[in-house]
Amino acid sequence: MPRQARAAICREHNRPVSIESITLDAPKRGEVTVKLGACGVCHSDLSAINGTIALPLPLVLGHEGAGVVEEVGEGVSDLAPGDHVIFSFIYMCGKCRFCVAGRPVLCLEQGKALTTPLEGTSRARDAKGAALGIFSGCGAMAEYATVSAENLIKIDPKIPLDCAALVGCGVTTGVGAVFNTAKVEPGSSVAVFGCGGVGLSVIQGAVIAGARRIIAIDTLAPKLEMARKFGATDTVLATKDEDMAKALKKLTGGGPDYAFECVGSGELAAAAYRAIRRGGLAVVVGVAKPSDSTSVRTMTLPFEEKTLTGSYFGSCVPRVDLPRMLSLYLAGRLKLEELITRRYSIDETPQAFADLESGKNARGVIVF
Ligand SMILES: NC(=O)c1ccc[n+]([C@@H]2O[C@H](COP(=O)([O-])OP(=O)(O)OC[C@H]3O[C@@H](n4cnc5c(N)ncnc54)[C@H](O)[C@@H]3O)[C@@H](O)[C@H]2O)c1
Ligand SMILES: [Zn+2]
Ligand SMILES: [Zn+2]
Repeated sequence: MPRQARAAICREHNRPVSIESITLDAPKRGEVTVKLGACGVCHSDLSAINGTIALPLPLVLGHEGAGVVEEVGEGVSDLAPGDHVIFSFIYMCGKCRFCVAGRPVLCLEQGKALTTPLEGTSRARDAKGAALGIFSGCGAMAEYATVSAENLIKIDPKIPLDCAALVGCGVTTGVGAVFNTAKVEPGSSVAVFGCGGVGLSVIQGAVIAGARRIIAIDTLAPKLEMARKFGATDTVLATKDEDMAKALKKLTGGGPDYAFECVGSGELAAAAYRAIRRGGLAVVVGVAKPSDSTSVRTMTLPFEEKTLTGSYFGSCVPRVDLPRMLSLYLAGRLKLEELITRRYSIDETPQAFADLESGKNARGVIVF
């Protein structure tokens, strides 16, 4: 049956989000309606608002969600009403060579349903009946969402939904970048540019991987304090005048083994690359504007054998890695509750974005 829901919508770039009552249609074949428990406020949602991530508007925001299955469509056999789920924001066709090879974040069909369920048409409508897109096939900043079953991962109901939500993006993105993309080795040194929800998760991943030295870099001093709580051994306050690559080389005596860019800037990607030691690995996790670019001194590639790469959703396989994050949490090795600085109601979403922009939170979470 169709359901009414309060939702956070982006109607126009660089305008405050609009909080509206919308209608979610009943799930069609292969789809599920979820009653949201919580949705994290990720910088990528802010990037959809400011146009850095250019998706068609209007758009129901939110992709870092968790909730309880309310209704399942025809043909959905692995989920039932009452099941607890985390949203997975990537499209997985399950058939292309990347999906088959266990690299679903590279799915060739990815562009097909960026703002709808896989079938390609909308299930969300505004008060006038006009179709609304849903961010990354999720639209989780709403009391209900109707999405493809492929975008949901069933979880243990004893895990609080606000903690579980963070695993739907920031935590898996950060920890996965360490485990899957970089395969950080024990005893290594790691630099992290940007200590938001993603960067702090890289720090946690580096701790679990056994890194010896973890250097956190941010422009905001309170973020560096948070970084220490999550396991950073050193902190560097970034200023406009200081060359971070030089500072890191000096601090580590030659450069860290790994550097993670968790801000979304070509300039910082270049600094991460310059900073790493010979044979080191720099990983770009932040999402920059389409017009942004980066550059490296070409000669350093052969003579220093350095690598610059990227990481999307922690190079994860959602059905493998999301439960893995939760088992680390249950074992007391991954902090989730501690990442939540503040909880907001759906009506307070504009404030949640303002707080994200000013860097107040490790993570803000909308709770329903
Ligand atoms: N690759 C992926 O799959 C993926 C997934 C989620 C988010 N992201 C991207 O990761 C980035 C971080 O996301 P987040 O939610 O953690 O954002 P956030 O806004 O919470 O954190 C960003 C941090 O970077 C700091 N910062 C800003 N400029 C800096 C500079 N010049 N030097 C050092 N630090 C600086 C800010 O103070 C802030 O603490 C965003 O670009 C987001 O879109 C990528
Ligand atoms: Zn995200
Ligand atoms: Zn595919």
